[in-house]
Amino acid sequence: MPFSCRIELNPLRLNSRYVRNLCIVGLQWGDEGKGKIVDYYADGFEAVVRYNGGSNAGHTIVINGRTFVFHLLPSGLLKKKKLLIGPGVALDPLTLREELDMVAKEGGEADLMVDERCTLVTTLEKEMDSFIEGLRGANAIGTTKRGIGPSYAMRALRLTPRAGDLVNGSFDMSSAIAFYGSFLKTIPDLTEWKDRSREVLAGKMGDVGGKVMELNEAGHSVMFEGAQGTLLDLIFGTYPYVTGAHTIASYVPAGLGIPNSALGDVMGVAKAYTTRVGGGPFPTEMTDETGEKIRKVGKEYGATTGRPRRVGWLDLVGLKYAVRLNGVSELALTKLDILTKVKEMKVCVGYSIDGSETGDFSRALPRLADARPVYQDMRSFFGLELRENQLPQVAEQLLEFLEDELKVKVTLVSTGEERSATMQRHA
Ligand code: IMP
Ligand code: MG
Repeated sequence: MPFSCRIELNPLRLNSRYVRNLCIVGLQWGDEGKGKIVDYYADGFEAVVRYNGGSNAGHTIVINGRTFVFHLLPSGLLKKKKLLIGPGVALDPLTLREELDMVAKEGGEADLMVDERCTLVTTLEKEMDSFIEGLRGANAIGTTKRGIGPSYAMRALRLTPRAGDLVNGSFDMSSAIAFYGSFLKTIPDLTEWKDRSREVLAGKMGDVGGKVMELNEAGHSVMFEGAQGTLLDLIFGTYPYVTGAHTIASYVPAGLGIPNSALGDVMGVAKAYTTRVGGGPFPTEMTDETGEKIRKVGKEYGATTGRPRRVGWLDLVGLKYAVRLNGVSELALTKLDILTKVKEMKVCVGYSIDGSETGDFSRALPRLADARPVYQDMRSFFGLELRENQLPQVAEQLLEFLEDELKVKVTLVSTGEERSATMQRHA
C-alpha cells in the first residue's frame, strides 16, 4: 500500500509540483523493524536511500516465509526500487559484493548507485575495530567489528581514500598504512581487497544527493532508510556506547548533501518492547524469564552478529527523547504480537535516580546506569489474537496511551514478520 501523502503537512515544492519524501528512523537502540516498514511502504517511492551507518546494520525482511537480511543494500530491493547508498555511509565493498551476488543468485538485479564520497571500510578498519575493543577491556562497547567507527574516524583524520578515489585510480593508502603500522603488529596486504573492491564499485559511482534532487524535481518521492537507532547516535545516544555515525533524521540532509527541506516526513519506528545489542546502560532491561521468553519468541538475536539481544520493557522516557530529536511526525509500532506470549505488560514512564524521579532522558543520560525504571502496569496482551484487521481493545488502549504520552499518532502497527501482518491506523 502506498504511503498516504498528507501534503498539507510539509510539502517540498519543486517545479510547482509537490513531492513527499519520507525518512524511516529507529527510535530505540536499533532493530526496531525498520527494514520491514521500508519494504512495506516502498511502493509509493521511486528510490530507497541509505544515508548512515554501514554493514553493522542488519535489516531483516520476511516474505512468504523466507528471510532476507541486508547489511548495506537498502531494503527497497525486494520492491525493485532504485537503490542509493549516500556519502554518509561507511562502505565495505566486499559486503556489497556478497549482497549483490545473493541478489543475482535469486535471479534479481539491483539498480544501484553508490556515492563516490562514501568513506571506505577496508580490512584495516576492521582490524582497528577489534584492536580498540581489546583496549577497552571490560568497558568494551560490543561493536559489530565491521570497522564502522574506525572508517568514520579515518575520514575525520583525512587519512583514508573514498570510494570514488578507489575507482578513479587516485587511491593512496600510504598515510593510512603508516598510521596503522604505528599500532597494529601486522598490516594485511590490501592488493586483493583493492582489486575486488574496485571491480564491485566500477560503474556504480555517482552523486547520490544530486540524484535525490533530480528524482524530486521529476516529481518522484524518495525514502530515506535509517540504520541503527536514535539512542545509538554518536552525539545524542548513550555515549560512549554508541555507533560511529549519526542515526537521527537530521543526518539525512547532511549525510546526503540535500537541503533540509527535502527531508520530508519522519516516521519513527519503535518496537513494543526494547532491545539492545552490546554494552551500555539499559534502564528497562529484563534479566528474568519474561525477558528470556520475549527474546525467544521475538527471535531477538543480532542479524549481523548473531548475539542474543538484551531485552527490556518499552521505555517512554527514551522514546519521548527520540521523538523530539527526530521531529517524528508519525510512529510505527512493531512486534506487538510478541507481547501476546507473555503474561505481564509494563511500560516505563519515568526513571528514579537516587530517589528523585525524572522523565527527561537527556538529564538522566549521565546517570543512566543508575536509573531505575518507574513502571506503569498495562493490561496484558497474553493470548490475544492480533491477526484481524481490527486490533483488540487492549491493544488500542496501549496505542492511545502512547499517543497521549508521545503526542504523536501511531499510524502503523506490525503484528508479525510478514508484509501482510501490518495495519494502518488513522489512514
Ligand atoms: P558499531 O556500530 O559496530 O561500532 O557498534 C556500536 C554499537 O552499536 C554496538 O553496541 C552495536 O551492537 C550497536 N549496533 C551497531 N549497529 C547496530 C544495528 O544495526 N542494530 C543494533 N545495534 C547495532
Ligand atoms: Mg538490525
